[in-house]
Amino acid sequence: MTRDVFLEGMSRSATTVSIVTTDGPAGRSGATVSAMSSVSADSDRPSLLVCVNKNSKSADIIRANGRFCVNVLRDSQAWISDAFAGRTPIEDKFTAGTWVETGLGSWSLENALVTFDCELKSEILYGSHYVFIGEVENAAVAESGPALVYSNRSYGSSVPLGATTASRREVPEDGDITTVAIGCYTSLAPFLIPRIISDYQSINPLVNIKVYEGNQDNLIHHLGVREADFLITYQAEIPDWWTESTQIASLAPQVILPALHPLADQDSVSLEQLADEPLVALDSPPLRNYVLSLFTDAGLQANIAYSSPSYEMVRSMVGNGLGFTILGTNPASPITLDGRLTVSRPLSNDSAPSSIVLVTDTSREISAEAQAVHAYIAEQLNNAL
Ligand SMILES: Cc1cc2nc3c(=O)[nH]c(=O)nc-3n(C[C@H](O)[C@H](O)[C@H](O)COP(=O)(O)O)c2cc1C
Repeated sequence: MTRDVFLEGMSRSATTVSIVTTDGPAGRSGATVSAMSSVSADSDRPSLLVCVNKNSKSADIIRANGRFCVNVLRDSQAWISDAFAGRTPIEDKFTAGTWVETGLGSWSLENALVTFDCELKSEILYGSHYVFIGEVENAAVAESGPALVYSNRSYGSSVPLGATTASRREVPEDGDITTVAIGCYTSLAPFLIPRIISDYQSINPLVNIKVYEGNQDNLIHHLGVREADFLITYQAEIPDWWTESTQIASLAPQVILPALHPLADQDSVSLEQLADEPLVALDSPPLRNYVLSLFTDAGLQANIAYSSPSYEMVRSMVGNGLGFTILGTNPASPITLDGRLTVSRPLSNDSAPSSIVLVTDTSREISAEAQAVHAYIAEQLNNAL
């Protein structure tokens, strides 16, 4: 086990980001920390810990002042994290953000998610870091929101998995309306969902169709936590030990090329011809792996030049001549959102089609209304794509 493997491994984990401040006889200081954790809610006063490098300016000042305040940052405050990590050339770190005295001798950030004002109760010097354990004397809990997260050496946001795009018709709360929740793969949704909602309004106006859009990982989450009654998605990468799938379409892969590309003159295009061309990959599970497997199954390797999680971004990049892409669905219009022309060609190889399925959770019964919508899609939208 080397130090490098440890650091690489730790970079995979995700932490919140906090600014630890202190003030008192030894002066004022502040540092960005990701090493912050609750210790106990049931000590004399609730307690937490932070790990601060012994060589940082703040460590000795916290020890001398005997106090520190933990300010947990929102996802919009990465710039304040950078300032207190010494990444920004400013003389006084406290000019980043608005800081107010806590009244107990430390400084709190206005609009932090939460600030914990602590008395230093214990310090352990372990290797390069002090573990400071503080008892929380005062906590200011602000309006909730996504926390700033540090993972894979970059900042991110703690948006809940359940918060992918959802659409819902406003319905009167008179108790007669039943909601049927469908999780739909993002790039399939525009092909199917508007039609399902509009058709179903005349079939049964007392059913409100709620939709969660997302990629395969998001959708499995929505089904697993019982937010979605069933899913409409690609079969690939759906765990089969707790789900049941009904196929509604089998789609041959479509090659999308810039209109003026030399291969656009052909009726169909082979993977061999595409292997050296720059691929603009739709970076969304499971489509990315599906497209790459078309090449590897043919003994070839795709040449990924760009990737994006957005279907329309991928099409616009193709339209601007940056490469080709392979999609599961064939867009009705060859014009991209920025007005460029593309062409769509089938693959000449005998490649595996992608299967579009309705997925239910075998461990539970869905409502009669959800079963009816499921049956309608299975019958009416069979091969509608
Ligand atoms: C996202 C992020 C997380 C950090 N986490 C820690 C940490 O947990 N402990 C630590 O000692 N330093 C951490 N640092 C580095 C300190 O913020 C940095 O060394 C800072 O310059 C210390 O300031 P000071 O010397 O003025 O006290 C982190 C930096 C960043 C950008």
